[in-house]
Amino acid sequence: MVSQKTIDLVKATAPILKERGEEITRKMYQLMFESRPEYRLWFETTFMTHVDGGSQPNKLAGSIYAYAIHIDKLDELKKTVEKIANRHVDSQVIAEQYPVIGDFLLLAMKEVLQEQATPEIMAAWEEAYTALADIFIQREKELYQDDDVKLVASLKSQRFFNH
Ligand code: HEM
Repeated sequence: MVSQKTIDLVKATAPILKERGEEITRKMYQLMFESRPEYRLWFETTFMTHVDGGSQPNKLAGSIYAYAIHIDKLDELKKTVEKIANRHVDSQVIAEQYPVIGDFLLLAMKEVLQEQATPEIMAAWEEAYTALADIFIQREKELYQDDDVKLVASLKSQRFFNH
């Protein structure tokens, strides 16, 4: 759980994110692909298909905004988290990629919001992003383990039928 100060600051930035969130996420993908071009490979149905990423910048901005307004009532986000986590597992996203996305997201926030992105707000968002990333990492770990269990079961049954 994040600190009360972070909750207050993150909630206070929600209106700015509603207005400028997509500008921030567009900037984030631009900075990320400049520095890590290989990351495009994960975005099969978005950036690999559409130059501007199709609906992806808008979806990411929407999920960050939803997080900002629900940061103290995360239960309400369970269904959304589940959907995104499954999408990530389908795309083979790994835990190590979260800090990379996080760094570029914070950098983009700073570039777009300029003086509005005070050091206090940036520190709050760093803590908040890490907490959200941990939620996804944990759930995706479970989903990957479920896949492993299914794979092992399927291999065992194949062996059973082959003998
Ligand atoms: C807290 C961090 C993150 C949030 C809030 C987030 C949010 C989202 C959302 C809302 C979608 C769209 C889901 C849908 O279409 O239903 C999505 C898809 C996706 N995300 Fe994330 N994401 C995060 C971190 C990451 C990381 C670390 C990666 C690693 C590269 C990643 C890669 C992807 C990919 C590959 C897709 C599918 C895009 C495609 O099909 O082209 N995301 N994410």
